[in-house]
This record gives sequence, structure tokens and C-alpha cells, in this order.
Amino acid sequence: MKRNIISAHQFNKKDIETLLARAKTFETAYKKNKVPKKLKDKVVACIFFEPSTRTRLSFETAALKLGAQVISAESAMSNSSSYKGESIEDTARMLSCYADIIVMRHPKEGYAERAASVASKPIVNAGDGGNEHPSQALLDLYTIKKHLGRLDNLKVAFGFDPKHSRTIRSLALLLTHFKNNHFTFICPKALNPDPEFLNDLKNRGANFEITDNLSEFKNFDIFYANRLQGERFEDQKEFEKYRKSLIITKELVKGTKTLILDPLPRIDEIEVTVDELPNAIYFDQAQNGLYIRMALLLYALGL
Ligand code: NCD
Repeated sequence: MKRNIISAHQFNKKDIETLLARAKTFETAYKKNKVPKKLKDKVVACIFFEPSTRTRLSFETAALKLGAQVISAESAMSNSSSYKGESIEDTARMLSCYADIIVMRHPKEGYAERAASVASKPIVNAGDGGNEHPSQALLDLYTIKKHLGRLDNLKVAFGFDPKHSRTIRSLALLLTHFKNNHFTFICPKALNPDPEFLNDLKNRGANFEITDNLSEFKNFDIFYANRLQGERFEDQKEFEKYRKSLIITKELVKGTKTLILDPLPRIDEIEVTVDELPNAIYFDQAQNGLYIRMALLLYALGL
């Protein structure tokens, strides 16, 4: 069975719980060096039209650990036929001829969906512009559950670019499946979340507020930081103006119970000295990507 992974919207609570439970078994197996070779003889294609370190390499590692073989096109904007003007649909058709699963990142919103509409093999959206990043959101949930033991009754802050951050969007959407979560979006006013996205959250019954003030820091269970998404600003001067305006400092975090997550890469949003504190769980979060992505590769094939 072919299952595309395009958006956080497609998952219900039960799907999420099943994927997280499966990822947990993979974490245990990985640590014992006993990951079952469930993807033997399969080929996983990773085609990335935008830069990536964690997402591409963890999908590739997940595939290799499961016994699959990997074909990869990075810098695909200049190194694939997209450069010659090939449409995303034709590229997706071609990859369907070679691979069993296609993991794709693209700077344009909706391109994963366009690829999925013609591909005969499952498409996994590894980020489409400022829209969504569902595998990241699932690994974020996995990390929260691992460290706090729950996904409900959480006070979650999201900073500092909810307007452009696909990871914030996808994670907030998934968190609406769990009871009594409260969101605070913290950002310069110019980077407030999109009204359409806020409507979506409202329709899902989410409670949230928006502020440009970091002073309530210690009241949060989770602080989900993400860099300002420089590549999505129309005006680079705006990016430079705001990139250092809100920063999580050691002083702010020390002595609090707030767990700090960040999908990474970090630029200015978290001071490096925060890394020394037990609150900083972003490197473990990145490692958890491996286990979730193993679970997702099998999910994509209905295995
Ligand atoms: C994120 C992304 O690509 O959206 N990175 C990642 O996949 N870990 C976050 C970011 O680039 O800021």
C-alpha cells in the first residue's frame, strides 16, 4: 500500500500514537545495533531542492539501517533536470521509475503535493517552502513525549518566526490532537503567524496568544525555538533587523524547568552557553529524527 506523507493535517491521534510507539521500538533496536532489515531490496530516493543536513542525512541513515539502498540528489535546483526546466511532476514520474519511496524537499509550497498527485510511489514531504515539515513535527512530538512523558496539558512557546517557519506550523497542528495544550507565539510583530494558519488552529479548538515579549519564559513546559527563516524574507534588511531581536540566553533558562527544542540549524535564536544546561534537548531531538524516519519509511509503504 502506498501512503504519501505530505502534511500534519493527514494524521489523527491514533496515527500519531502508532508512529511514536513504532519509533520507540526502533530507538531500542538501534541502540542494540539490531534494526530489522525491513526495507531490504528497496530503493529510497532523496531529492532535495533546498539545503539540508539533518533531514536528508537522517532519512538516508534510517533507510540504510533498515537495509534499503539510497539514491540521492542534493542541490537539485542546479544539479537535477529542474535546472533545465523540467516540471516537478515529470521529475516525480521519473523517480517513481527508479525508487520505492521518494523523499523530497522543495522551496515552493505545495510542491510535495503536486509530486504526489502523479507519482506512482509514495512521496515524503521533507519540507515544502514555508508550508509544512511533517516528519520534523513527529520527531518533535517524540522528543517531548520522551522527556515529559505526555503530549497534553502543555504550555508551549513558539519563537521566533512563526510567519515563515514550517516546523512551527506542522508541530502546532499536531499538538492540537492532544488535550489542554496552550500555545504562545513569541516574535517581532512583523513575523506574527499567518491569519489563515491561526484560523486553522482556532477551528481545531486550540488556545493560543501572540506576544513579542520573552518575560514569561519560565512559565512554559516547552520552548520551541526556530531561527528566523532568512531565505523566506522578501526583504533581507527585515531579516537583519530582527534576527537578533529575541534570543534565548542562559540567564533566561537557568533554574527553570522549561525544555528547549529547536529543529536546528541554530543561528542566533539560542545562545551557545544554553547547550550546557539540562534544559537543552535539541541535539537529542535531532537524533530522534532517525527513529521517527524509520517508522515513516515503513508507513509510506504500508509495512
Ligand atoms: C528545519 C527546516 O528545514 O525547516 N530544519 C530541519 O529540517 N531540521 C528548520 C530550519 O531550517 O530552520
